[in-house]
Amino acid sequence: MAMGAAGRQQMTLILGIETSCDDTGAAVLKDREILSNVVLGQAELHAAFGGVVPEIAARAHAEKVDLAVEAAVAEAGVTLDQIEAIAVTAGPGLIGGVLSGVMCAKGLAAATGAPLIGVNHLAGHALTPRLTDGIDFPYLMLLVSGGHCQFLRVESATDFTRLGGTIDDAPGEAFDKVARLLGLPQPGGPAVETAARDGDPGAVPLPRPLLDRPGCDLSFSGLKTAVLRARDRAMDGQAGLARAARADICAGFQVAVVDILAEKSRRALLAAVDVTAFAVAGGVAANGAIREALRDVAGEVRFLAPPLSLCTDNGAMIAWAGLEKLRLGHVDDLTLAARPRWPLDETAPAQLGGGKKGAKA
Ligand code: KG4
Ligand code: ZN
Repeated sequence: MAMGAAGRQQMTLILGIETSCDDTGAAVLKDREILSNVVLGQAELHAAFGGVVPEIAARAHAEKVDLAVEAAVAEAGVTLDQIEAIAVTAGPGLIGGVLSGVMCAKGLAAATGAPLIGVNHLAGHALTPRLTDGIDFPYLMLLVSGGHCQFLRVESATDFTRLGGTIDDAPGEAFDKVARLLGLPQPGGPAVETAARDGDPGAVPLPRPLLDRPGCDLSFSGLKTAVLRARDRAMDGQAGLARAARADICAGFQVAVVDILAEKSRRALLAAVDVTAFAVAGGVAANGAIREALRDVAGEVRFLAPPLSLCTDNGAMIAWAGLEKLRLGHVDDLTLAARPRWPLDETAPAQLGGGKKGAKA
């Protein structure tokens, strides 16, 4: 049941549910205080397939979402009937998973009478720096994960201007693919970063796609193909890939990604004008070399990288984004739909293709 504006201002205890990819998340927030943030991963279920299998993800979310909510409520030390609002990812993402979360949230909203708020998953990531650091609008956000890569000027909790994004793969996807090509474990990002430490970043020159073109759009698929060729050259006539050669390819690949992200961030900062901060989110922001390069690019502008547990998919960011929407008066009813695609900036041109982890926004 929706409540009046005055009531909304009082509401502080909010449940957030996230099921759009391969992590089942549930969290309870009291304003900016995170009382619990439970994430039940599915990595082991997908490991044998070299990527997220949508049907397996959907089934796992359906099985785990109630457990995640129960755990989040218990860990927060509250009961369900004390929850004053329920926020849920309503897209974009793998539709089976999103549906599991939305159905669960609707059931809880119907049972408790708490208002239901459908949240855009990307808004969850994009608003995280306000949860962690309380920054003001507008700020520049670079979202870099296994499924997404885009620059957003965050104007308000419901108003985002997309300055650019990937036209093919997300960088996390590229890290994962490169790891597979080189026989390294998944997720590929940490494995490639570790291997790169022993390599020479100049030994294997790799391309920096789209750097020669103006604007903030990015591309990573050609880089992946170049890594495949470099690997084949390094293996030519050899029984396998030598450790040193693998390290050199990893170092060359990582520095190419760093160069691309740094140069495009420089341009995005210029395009964004007058922002309070430059923030990053998404699993790829865990990469030390990438973080350092972006910090350098920020220069005088405040640079923010949330702690990793809030950078990757989680329920707390959904609860927070829901609270921000609620405070602006946005409440959904039980007709809330799950959306596989849901661009944050509806006016920006659609991006091409869909990633391994679902449709790109
Ligand atoms: O945000 P996230 O947990 O999930 C989604 O994609 O939704 O991001 C996961 C991605 C994976 O592709 C993983 O390889 C990448 O983030 N990643 C990294 C690092 N740690 C995780 N990429 C580069 N360097 C890392 N240290
Ligand atoms: Zn995400």
